Amino acid sequence: MNATIEAAPRQHTSPCHVHRMTSVSTSLPESLPNAGRPPVTGQPPHAIPLAAEAGQGNSTTNWKRSGWRYLARRVNPLYWLYARIMLSRAKHRSLAGHTRLAQRLARLLPNYQFGAIDAFAADGAPADVEQCRHLAFRRLGKELQQRSPASSAMAARLRAHVSDAQFVDSYRVPFPFRDLVRDALPIAAIADASQASQIRDLDGNWFHDLGGSYGVNLFGSDFYKACLNAGMAEARSLGLVLGPYHPVVIDNVDRLRAISGLDEISFHMSGTEAVMQAVRVARYHTGRSHVVRFAGAYHGWWDGVQAGPGNPRPSHEVYTLAEMSDRTLRLLEVREDIACVLVNPIQAMHPNRPPPSDATLIASDRRCAFDRASYAAWLCRLRQVCTDRKIVLIFDEVFLGFRLARGGVQEYFGVSADLVTYGKSLGGGLPVGVLAGKASLMRRFNEQHPGDVCFARGTFNAHPHVMTCMNWFLRHLDSPTVNTHYQKVDGVWNRRAALLNRRFQEERLPLRVVNMTSVWSVLFTVPSRYNWMLQFYLRAEGISLAWIGTGRLIFSHDISEHAMQAIMECFVRAARRMQDDGWWWTDSVLTNKAIKRQVLREVVGALRRSGSNRGMPAHASSDLSILL
Ligand SMILES: Cc1ncc(COP(=O)(O)O)c(C=O)c1O
Repeated sequence: MNATIEAAPRQHTSPCHVHRMTSVSTSLPESLPNAGRPPVTGQPPHAIPLAAEAGQGNSTTNWKRSGWRYLARRVNPLYWLYARIMLSRAKHRSLAGHTRLAQRLARLLPNYQFGAIDAFAADGAPADVEQCRHLAFRRLGKELQQRSPASSAMAARLRAHVSDAQFVDSYRVPFPFRDLVRDALPIAAIADASQASQIRDLDGNWFHDLGGSYGVNLFGSDFYKACLNAGMAEARSLGLVLGPYHPVVIDNVDRLRAISGLDEISFHMSGTEAVMQAVRVARYHTGRSHVVRFAGAYHGWWDGVQAGPGNPRPSHEVYTLAEMSDRTLRLLEVREDIACVLVNPIQAMHPNRPPPSDATLIASDRRCAFDRASYAAWLCRLRQVCTDRKIVLIFDEVFLGFRLARGGVQEYFGVSADLVTYGKSLGGGLPVGVLAGKASLMRRFNEQHPGDVCFARGTFNAHPHVMTCMNWFLRHLDSPTVNTHYQKVDGVWNRRAALLNRRFQEERLPLRVVNMTSVWSVLFTVPSRYNWMLQFYLRAEGISLAWIGTGRLIFSHDISEHAMQAIMECFVRAARRMQDDGWWWTDSVLTNKAIKRQVLREVVGALRRSGSNRGMPAHASSDLSILL
């Protein structure tokens, strides 16, 4: 076994009873390796009273509403009108809160592209600054190409035939700069090796990996290699047998129950699928139709929860509401059609806004901040309303899950959910989605009515190799080292972020970072149209980012102080170069507002041009102003 996994032992005991807020033993048949060692103790993760203790959520709970008050509300047209008005008031005022309008407007947005002639003074910079930027752009392009010729060539081949590669390459920068950048500044997202917190491209260059494999890479790439090796070896004798479970499943179930404090588990192949299943069982048991999601929150790419641009169809039976809003809580109190509320806790960094991506970085007004106490207070109030109204509260922990605490988001914020989805890192390097929930919600059939079922099965669910790799991951979570790690995790990452911010300040660089443990966002402190250039300077200095760029840096927790120091130096060097090359030129009239007005003028101009060609309705251009 590779030394990088410190795994808690499995336990061979009689089957244990696991309950929320209790210590947990795990069990596994003796025939498997590591069986027969001392028990593992789960920690009670939740600080506030559980829903079960508030009279809801045990296995006999009836989630359906009934009674005279309920009936009267359902048939009263005045009540219906009142609930409709409340719904409008509970929407966030931005386009993120008005998904249908956003979808319509997004479709109208006309394409226009800057060429080499007009791209470098789009902010009204004087000729000398424009010239400086132009030369720097060419220099940087040459540097990136010369350093990674094989990777660039391979990336171009991929782009020709892999639709996902085409998509991400087209959305790294604000769209008017797309053509200019696409071939001139190659990012070449190809890697053939990883070690510690670094990845290597085809040309042998090593990069600090801040893309974090979309959040999967929590404990470092060496850890997942070890998990994969150990898990594959363990499942080898069973090979591909689907249907019968690999015996390791029971240990996974016990550990997941202990972590989540919930009764039952279902296994899926992706986070998206786990969310689908959560919503389906919530609807089944409540008999209600609608899902509440919060503006800007991502829950996977399923139609049922992805409302607005990105989804070609308008979504049905989904309410997109304002997060951290009293009006939302009031709406939950009055409407009778809400089955569940989905929370993606990463939104605590930017409530009601989509994930910050460099493709939307048209000025310097990206806003992110994280206040743990106020988000915890919000979740607590949401919990209470959901309990009172028998609405299923779902925490979507697919992304954040084990990044914050061993007990995940529930433990970190001290609030319990009725259903919790997990994914990403939990698979120990393999694709996975998991739903944990109260028994009263997880049951998929009705004892009294055998035809009343909630079907949800998938061919590859609980695949033996995924289960064994997951087991190594879960046992690692239960090891003493990881326990100590979680006790220090916030302190470590807050200190690192503060250190980098101090460096930026000392160097008079117009950058700051905001963090939620190891998930960071870069903010820009002077108005500029060119902040998206930073991702390319970072690349040149040896940093690899995810395709959404500087909006989300995802660090693996194995990054040493030494590596962190090196990463900070990369940031400072990249920012210095960017500053010297004139991209942050500014004058008294260049404000974020002025930039956005300028972009609006460009969009309207392009719309008029395309409208006169295609007979675009005249009101469309005024609608588009909302986009900015
Ligand atoms: C909060 C959340 N939910 C669901 C998903 C979807 O997971 P997957 O990509 O595994 O389908 C993601 C993916 O990033 C996510 O961040």
